[in-house]
This record gives sequence, C-alpha cells and structure tokens, in this order.
Amino acid sequence: MINENLNLLLWNMENGADEAIGDAPVDYFAKSEEKISAVSAPLIPKATALEVAPAPVLPAVPLTQELLRDVKTLEELKTAMLNFNGCSLKATAMNTVFGGGVPESKVMLVGEAPGADEDRIGLPFVGLSGKLLDKMLASIGLSREKNVYISNILPWRPPGNRTPTPAEVALCLPFIRKHIELINPDILILLGGSSASALLATTEGVSRIRGRWLEYTIAETGKSVDTLVTFHPAFLLRSAAQKKIAWKDMLTVKQKLNALGEH
Ligand code: URA
Repeated sequence: MINENLNLLLWNMENGADEAIGDAPVDYFAKSEEKISAVSAPLIPKATALEVAPAPVLPAVPLTQELLRDVKTLEELKTAMLNFNGCSLKATAMNTVFGGGVPESKVMLVGEAPGADEDRIGLPFVGLSGKLLDKMLASIGLSREKNVYISNILPWRPPGNRTPTPAEVALCLPFIRKHIELINPDILILLGGSSASALLATTEGVSRIRGRWLEYTIAETGKSVDTLVTFHPAFLLRSAAQKKIAWKDMLTVKQKLNALGEH
C-alpha cells in the first residue's frame, strides 16, 4: 500500500503536480466569481427594503480595467495588483510575480505565467526556461540587466503549472496591457501561444505566426509596437529541433534593433 501511494505520488509529480493543495478538488472558476463579486461590492448600489431588483453582475474585465484607470506608474500598478483579490490563482500562489529587468528598455518580453521557481522567488523566468531565455537574448546582445524588461500575462502561478483558463487570462489581461503601456517598448516579443493569443487576439498557432513583424497597439496612446511571436523557451527545452528556428527569430529582432538604431 505504501509503495502504491508512493508510486501514485511520483506519477503525479512527473505530471507537474508539485504541490499538495487540498484533499478535495477546487473549482477555481467558481471561487474567482465569488471574489469578483466581493471586490465589485462597493460599485453596486445597495438594495433597500423597497428596492428588490437584483444587483447587477459586473463583468470581470471592465472591473479590472476600472481598478487601473488612475494608475500612472509601475509602482502604482504593482500596488494595484498586490491589493487585487479578484483572481483565485492568487490564493494558491506564493508571490505576485510582477516583472523584471530594466523598465526603461526598448525591448519587452511577455511570457505566460510564473512556474514553481518564479513563484518561489517572485521574479519572471528564473527557472530552467529562464536560463535558456537568457542565452537566447545574450546571443543578440540583450540582457535583463542592461536592456530588456520581462513580464507575464498572468502574475500568479496556476497550480501545478496548468494552462491558464481563458477566464483567468481575460481577468488579468488589463494588468499586462497597463504594464506594456507603462514600459512603452519599441519592440515586443511574445513568448509562446498563450501570450500571443491574449495580446494579439489571434487563434493562430505559434508556428504559423512566429518570426514576422505584427502590431500591438497600446490603446491609451495609440502607439503601434513592432511585435514578434516566438516559441516559448519551455517548449524549446522539450523540442530542441526548433531551437534553430527560434535563433532565426532572434536574428530578426537584432535586425530590427539595428534598423531602429537602438543597439
Ligand atoms: N514561463 C513563463 O511563461 N513565465 C515565467 O515567468 C516562467 C516560465
């Protein structure tokens, strides 16, 4: 029996379940809805004895946008995210992984969500895929110490590194949009399908859209940012044969930087 349990545990760990969260499965979507209506409470008129109409249910995304309306600095954005309790992923995460690198950079990268290492340390891309990402960047003279800024679509780690749900992505999207607006990059590099589909509103796979210049528009300023989609480094760790394609993508970024006279 002990052996059976141990094998089951090892099998779960191999499948990415590296944290014990509870005995019973949790419906995170339902929890998220609960918290959203709790956060939105002050915006909903209180019903009196005579007013029997049900309170309107506010959609989550405009609510997040509303929270960020007066945010003007990275510090204010970070505070807004630390104070935000409308996403149930925050309850199981150890840290809010905000961003890392040089905020004045002209190149910004956006990944999917923190993994176990990022969650523990509180910074993006510090695990194995981060090490590969650093090497890819270094090959074209970029580094997060000097000239790159990095963040993610989601600031909280999904339990067991599962793929974020569309509802979680939609809820957190205003955060990364505001983040991009505040960094104001000239070049945006989207790492993997989740990042590309969230920010470019496309359903095309990475293989179809990678390696060419697309546009991301910063809604508040109207600025159109040169945007390139490439493979997520975690995918490259599993599919080494694709590294040469990712290398071509890095050269495309280098050419653009040269053309912009930025490096
Ligand atoms: N994968 C991501 O997409 N982001 C991180 O920060 C780490 C791994």
